[in-house]
Amino acid sequence: MPDATERLHAESLANPQRFWAKAADDIEWVRRPRAAWNDTDPHRVSWFPGAMVNTCYNAVDLHIVAGRGDQKALVHDSPVTGTQRAFTYTELRDEVARLAGALTRLGVEAGDRVVIYMPMVPEAVFGMLACARIGAIHSVVFGGFAANELAQRIQHARPKVVLSASCGIEPGRIVAYKPMLDEAIAQVSEKPEHCLVLQREQARAELTPGRDLDWNDTVSDAKPVGCTAVQAKDPLYILYTSGTTGVPKGVVRDNGGHAVALKWSLRNVYGVAPGDVFWAASDIGWVVGHSYIVYAPLLLGCTTILYEGKPVGTPDAGAFFRVIQEHGVDVLFTAPTALRAVKQQDPEATLPEQYDTTTLRTLFLAGERADPDTVAWCERALGVPVIDHWWQTETGWPIAANCMGIEPLPVKHGSPTKPVPGYDVRILGDDGGELPPGETGHVVIKLPLPPGCLRTLWENDAGFEQAYLERFPGYYQTSDAGHLDEDGYLWIMARTDDIINVAGHRLSTGAMEEVIAGHPDVAECAVTGVADALKGQVPLGFVVLNAGVSRALDEIAREVVARVREEIGPVAAFKQALVVPRLPKTRSGKVLRGTMRKIADAEPYRTPATIDDPAILDEIRDALIDAGYACKPADPARSET
Ligand code: COA
Ligand code: AMP
Repeated sequence: MPDATERLHAESLANPQRFWAKAADDIEWVRRPRAAWNDTDPHRVSWFPGAMVNTCYNAVDLHIVAGRGDQKALVHDSPVTGTQRAFTYTELRDEVARLAGALTRLGVEAGDRVVIYMPMVPEAVFGMLACARIGAIHSVVFGGFAANELAQRIQHARPKVVLSASCGIEPGRIVAYKPMLDEAIAQVSEKPEHCLVLQREQARAELTPGRDLDWNDTVSDAKPVGCTAVQAKDPLYILYTSGTTGVPKGVVRDNGGHAVALKWSLRNVYGVAPGDVFWAASDIGWVVGHSYIVYAPLLLGCTTILYEGKPVGTPDAGAFFRVIQEHGVDVLFTAPTALRAVKQQDPEATLPEQYDTTTLRTLFLAGERADPDTVAWCERALGVPVIDHWWQTETGWPIAANCMGIEPLPVKHGSPTKPVPGYDVRILGDDGGELPPGETGHVVIKLPLPPGCLRTLWENDAGFEQAYLERFPGYYQTSDAGHLDEDGYLWIMARTDDIINVAGHRLSTGAMEEVIAGHPDVAECAVTGVADALKGQVPLGFVVLNAGVSRALDEIAREVVARVREEIGPVAAFKQALVVPRLPKTRSGKVLRGTMRKIADAEPYRTPATIDDPAILDEIRDALIDAGYACKPADPARSET
């Protein structure tokens, strides 16, 4: 007998038109969709063709009309500044409408891009919603990225205006944003016309006359504006994410499909109702922040928490439990790494007992594999279901989850449960054939993708085809490897590309290699992700120097580390580079990054039969042992073919 999720899942695949047309009734349209899609190209579905909508209206104004004007919409809890601010839906509408007016006065129109490079402050959320209000396309850049990364995004998106702030606050240091913004703008060929800068008292910024405008001065006398109707298919935002090269991919999300899918997901996957307090402890620079700090909770009429702090150290490992208690959080979503940090400091889970967390119904984890130890600790600490769920920047909402709003299923630790309605998940072998239960292969989604998933890459349709659709015709390639078990549960095991997951942040080792290769003494290099008890993975660099370089090796290694921090940003958490004589390669020249990772992680490894020179693996092992890694010797019995 299939469970309720399975039944709904089957329904969603048998007749996606009907399924999503029904979900679309939950959205207030300016012009209602006549059909869920036009099937001219079933592989590249454009959801709700011809329909007109405004995402900001649905996320803000609609709730005032429906009587929620006095309900808290947004709560900013900022232990790093020792402040809290709350905004009702009416107050949120007023802030957003005025900022939208200011943007309009600066010449921003529907379809124009606005880059948002800001810390976790309410004004950043106002910025996203203000763009949505006037049909402009926002592109939020995470504050932990350096000027160079910001420049790449500005260069590619060509924003008319940049919204920024004087600084962000990390534990123990103030991060001045303005110098990075200035440096980024200096690098790009097409400059934004204006930067609106929010001055924070922790570090005020010097404004560039003519280009920079003080946020408060500009917004205070702006005329509030209403919502501009846009086509369902028009882009709401671009979110850049790591690809296999140093150039990030600009994921494009539409307005109509996004609103329908996110509102549906919050009710059905997360089991949330209007009026609930929802907290996604993430950052607006990531997709989790876009979908579940900003859009989904506001679309559903919830109270959303914007937390400017860390799980530990602001001021202690009880921070999450304090926030749950103070704001009456019903559902929490975070990355496993955040709770590993808490668990590391409170292994016996004594801190949660000091707070009243009884409002909490469910804890959701995503962004990386939820290791069973951490899940078990959370279950014990909080006494609520702990739900691992799996998705990506590209999809914007969960692909596989235990759908708490449909019917909770038994949890299997290590699995994000089953595919969510809308997603036809299959496992394919290298030859494109479907694999039976239990066999690990490429996790793909049979087309069409449901609403809310990426429509394309910004100004790069060919790149979209190539990255996601080309390898397995008729399927979207997730670049994750895994299997389905006999009960239909999905198991996500690893990435199939060179993306690594560091503290729930998605990073490209290829991008780091490009930066390291730019060091004048470096002949070649390789970066791989090695296991880390807190962050899941951290990058480790292997560097081969040019012939004749005689400088101190540790000095060069330090420069390499500094270079990655300067060019990619502190978020890369790149702290170690080992100088090695040579890199292990196959005879065709492919660097054996996977084997190097296994040696570093003290996993059994084999000497690949295709290796150019097996002695190089011993050199790598020696370098790792010297650096303190507990490596195992190669297993001759496991000689690879
Ligand atoms: N602006 C500037 N710098 C930032 C930043 C930001 N918004 N966010 C992080 N950084 C910096 C940190 O200060 C740190 O710098 P350091 O090398 O000088 O110490 C570096 O980037 C790495 O940061 P982080 O990965 O956050 O590591 P951490 O050691 O500071 O904290 C955790 C570890 C586990 C507490 C932290 O990673 C965490 O809370 N993770 C949650 C993950 C998450 O929200 N993921 C989103 C997907 S759900
Ligand atoms: P991002 O686009 O930053 O959200 O990263 C998406 C990638 O993170 C996925 O493709 C997976 O590799 C990984 N990931 C996210 N959630 C999970 C999960 N629950 N289990 C395993 N891996 C996950």
